[in-house]
Amino acid sequence: MLKRIEALRYESACAADTEHLGELVAPALADGDILVLTGGLGVGKTHFTKGVSRGLGDEHPVTSPTFALMAVHDGGRIPLFHFDLYRLEHAYELEDTGIFDVLGYEGACLLEWGEQFQDELCDEYLSVVISRDADDENKRTVVLKPYGARAEELARQIDKAVKDDAE
Ligand SMILES: Nc1ncnc2c1ncn2[C@@H]1O[C@H](COP(=O)(O)OP(=O)(O)OP(=O)(O)O)[C@@H](O)[C@H]1O
Ligand SMILES: [Mg+2]
Repeated sequence: MLKRIEALRYESACAADTEHLGELVAPALADGDILVLTGGLGVGKTHFTKGVSRGLGDEHPVTSPTFALMAVHDGGRIPLFHFDLYRLEHAYELEDTGIFDVLGYEGACLLEWGEQFQDELCDEYLSVVISRDADDENKRTVVLKPYGARAEELARQIDKAVKDDAE
């Protein structure tokens, strides 16, 4: 069960919970929205993205675009651009990923490992911080941190969706 601990802070007990959170996020998303998914290796960023894609109505499987750097899921309500910037070492390599063609304009962009290039990428975004729990290997805490007015609105809508879902 996905739990709302307090405003903008949730507890996920398993991968399905993290996907479910992604599903609850999807209806709030609009063209131009940017979510920066932050957390260490294997914390659940791709599972969260799977849920968002499903919530937008795209039935295709989501895998980690570590080698492709970008995957587009355009079978849903709005396009979803999924970036995994783990392998990038320098900010100048961003140009080749095509990220600047879409970021902040078209569809919703979800970025894994984007925080390392935050200054080059965007000022306004919703940070989704996922962290592990010391005692339970499947437990995750997810915290939403909005930067900018649109991100604040998005966070508010997501929080309401999680709250309503729990009732
Ligand atoms: N509560 C949870 N939420 C998400 N994943 C979980 C949870 N509990 C266990 N897992 C497991 O953790 C792993 C998360 O994998 P995932 O690919 O989503 O991570 P990631 O953050 O995208 O990793 P990477 O940084 O390598 O891209 C999966 O094996 C999943 O089954
Ligand atoms: Mg991943």
